[in-house]
Amino acid sequence: MARISIEGVTKRYSDGSAAVDNVSIEVADGEFLVLVGPSGCGKSTLLRMIAGLEDITSGAIRVDDRIVNDLPPKDRDIAMIFQTYALFPHMTVEKNLRYGLKVRGTPKAEADARVQKAAKTLGLLPLMNRRPGQLSGGQRQRVAIGRALVREPSVFLMDEPLANLDTKLRVHMRTEFARLREQLRTTTVYVTHDQVEAMTLGHRVCVLRDGVVQQIDTPDQLFARPKNMFVAGFIGSPEMNFAKAKVVGRTVTLGSHAVGLPDDVDLARHDGREIVLGIRPSDFYERADGQFMVDVELVERLGSENIVVFPVAAESVRADRIGGRASAVVDDEEALQAGQAGRTPFTARLDGTAKARAGVPLRLGVAPEALHFFDPQTGLSIGRR
Ligand SMILES: Nc1ncnc2c1ncn2[C@@H]1O[C@H](COP(=O)(O)OP(=O)(O)OP(=O)(O)O)[C@@H](O)[C@H]1O
Ligand SMILES: [Mg+2]
Repeated sequence: MARISIEGVTKRYSDGSAAVDNVSIEVADGEFLVLVGPSGCGKSTLLRMIAGLEDITSGAIRVDDRIVNDLPPKDRDIAMIFQTYALFPHMTVEKNLRYGLKVRGTPKAEADARVQKAAKTLGLLPLMNRRPGQLSGGQRQRVAIGRALVREPSVFLMDEPLANLDTKLRVHMRTEFARLREQLRTTTVYVTHDQVEAMTLGHRVCVLRDGVVQQIDTPDQLFARPKNMFVAGFIGSPEMNFAKAKVVGRTVTLGSHAVGLPDDVDLARHDGREIVLGIRPSDFYERADGQFMVDVELVERLGSENIVVFPVAAESVRADRIGGRASAVVDDEEALQAGQAGRTPFTARLDGTAKARAGVPLRLGVAPEALHFFDPQTGLSIGRR
């Protein structure tokens, strides 16, 4: 078991820009921490630096109290699981599991015991004599996990281990990982770009953007109280609705709709100004006295839920355009057009029994506590006391 301290770590590749920019994260002993963010945000680079596969430009990484910056990977007591599981095709499952122990010179009795234990944990006992070519994708991935398990490392690092599996298998393996997490309680840093995977597996989740930490929090907190628009937009599906809105006293006007501010929100500093209002699709509900009378444009019936799309007469805002390096790109056709039209499509996720129909007006409500407010320049969450 081990703690990991990442202290002001930066990675600059030779072309100059920082792939990981002054990142600090404390991973507690036994914690399962998930790094999540869009492609290219620096997840793999950070993980590879913890593993010792990539040099650190500046900052320090400690495992327990020891700085490991210059320690070779084999001396770090860390096992890494990759997206491509690269098993030895000519070896049986059992030999694949045993191989890492053999090269490390683990005594046979000890190796036997560990291989048996890992195989049992992962349900591989009936498959021990098969070769990788005779296994399904999920079974192969379990063997890859088993190879890491038998080493009994103090830290697991996992880089998108489920990315190669089809959707159904991925959901199944996600549950397996959750079970293993509880059973093993080994400190783990897990990388994914899938926010659902992040939210279901992480004790805590760290959201990265352009190499910079946006927020490190429990899944619940990340969902309920995102620190900025980027996190708000990245976590949750369908994505949070965003549009420009105007603060007047204790009311916010979004197009033709007026909503009262919740008691715990103070936007006095923004009185008379525009802010960004955020509403999660799942926070809308059908209600006769709701604040939103909307013209339903489209209804997607998904069985247990209905996705309802309706226009709001307000300027749209893209979460990934505000704050961060990407904001330099302002001449985006799509954003311009949507903005000029002063019309933003909003999405509501309603119960499967909801009667909403395209072309029929609908009244929707949102609990004031569920509203999110952001600064239109910085994208930071504002107003909550
Ligand atoms: N060897 C390298 N030389 C130069 N730049 C690199 C190198 N490896 C990665 N990068 C850049 O560093 C940034 C972070 O890359 P990284 O692989 O860590 O992203 P990631 O978050 O893992 O993305 P993905 O989800 O696509 O795997 C990217 O902009 C990438 O282009
Ligand atoms: Mg990666």
